[in-house]
Amino acid sequence: MASNRGPVSYTLLDDGTLDARRGGGGMVSGLAAVGTRDDALWVCCALGDGDREAVRRGTGHGEDGVLMLDIDADIHSDAYNGIANSVLWFIHHLLYQTPLEPVFDEEFRRQWRSYETYNRAFAEALADRAAEGAAVLVQDYHLALVPGMLRELRPDLRIGHFSHTPWAPPDYFRLLPDDIAEQLLRGLLGADRTCFLTRRWADAFTACCTEVLGPDALKDTRIGVHGLGADADFLRERAHRPDVGERMTALREQIGGADRKTIVRVDRTELSKNIVRGLLAYRHLLATRPEWHERVVHIAFAYPSRQDLAVYRDYTAEVQRVADAINDEYGTPGWTPVVLHVKDDFARSLAAYRLADVALVNPIRDGMNLVAKEIPVVSDAGCALVLSREAGAYEELSADALVVNPYDVIETAAALHEALTLPPDVRADRTARLATAATALPPRRWFLDQLEALTPEA
Ligand code: G6P
Repeated sequence: MASNRGPVSYTLLDDGTLDARRGGGGMVSGLAAVGTRDDALWVCCALGDGDREAVRRGTGHGEDGVLMLDIDADIHSDAYNGIANSVLWFIHHLLYQTPLEPVFDEEFRRQWRSYETYNRAFAEALADRAAEGAAVLVQDYHLALVPGMLRELRPDLRIGHFSHTPWAPPDYFRLLPDDIAEQLLRGLLGADRTCFLTRRWADAFTACCTEVLGPDALKDTRIGVHGLGADADFLRERAHRPDVGERMTALREQIGGADRKTIVRVDRTELSKNIVRGLLAYRHLLATRPEWHERVVHIAFAYPSRQDLAVYRDYTAEVQRVADAINDEYGTPGWTPVVLHVKDDFARSLAAYRLADVALVNPIRDGMNLVAKEIPVVSDAGCALVLSREAGAYEELSADALVVNPYDVIETAAALHEALTLPPDVRADRTARLATAATALPPRRWFLDQLEALTPEA
């Protein structure tokens, strides 16, 4: 297996010891649930000073099934911040403000060369370590060139690639310079199977291949769709441990009044998550339906992500500013309309899931969105799901969700009102069906399906 972010990340503490934590994000959450296997190796990148120090001290050399590549920090920064997060992420999530961006200039070309170097480092490590005929599963847009490079180095391997993001429609994908668009597609087509979370993203990829490379482009590569689901057993057990109970008590205090309803959202502060418009929709609800004053609290967890990039920092600041403005405008001594937390705390996320009356998942565009699948599984009294039609999870959950256009804050406010007033029996029935749909393909099965699909036919 190969991915940019690995299953653990290390932080160097003041006393010189290393603190190990599970990596964040949809891709690692899915794969970490698969667990480690004796015959498997997870190749990832040392991401910060803590990881690099861990490698220096002898961790991450393959002994526990994890190989951490110590790639030059500048190369990694160009590849990860410059190309993966500032170009590829923007392309697949349709995030550019096109009057002024993107601009593909000399600086872009320089960073692209780093992206190639970084992909080559993975391809070489995999070529070096993989057994004869082994299956190699490459993850995500950070490593789009790896399948093609690896195929050249090791034609014996069975190679899969999985995109955990959406895929851009052809007109948007073609914002990229032609040669770059072609190189990306050919990189992925180096795999025996190229896989996506939903049919929609797979179709967009196929359309890009046909348009950029011509009608025969896909003749040697199969396209797969595997809709990663939530890990019900893990979540239910984890959500009932004492630390989650403590967080529930603390949250109840912040919510105040026993009859208050909660609208819960939990996201990493990615530009695609649409947290600001979620707040604006909530503000519209309070402005147009004063009956909710003092009776509802919006619990918004916006955890840090990719803070090396100024646009992410600015976005986080805007989330904070709008939340403060709502509290200034509507708050009373006994009621804080928005409870915003920006420090990552998994136990507190689970506590909020359990308390949720309404789950708000309104991304501009999202590969899947596991939160939409996790909340119905964990919520104590059942929750109503307000869901963007642009989330991958929409394909599986739309029948029992209140579906919104993520750009339309008036429609989103109306959906929040409807969700808050859903009769308890309807809400319970819908939650049960959502939980069933959300757990249809648990991570282990999702992973094994991909492995089996790469196994040569007997
Ligand atoms: C999200 C995406 C994944 C991606 C991950 C990377 O979770 O759904 O496709 O791999 O972000 O996050 P990172 O923190 O490593 O930049």
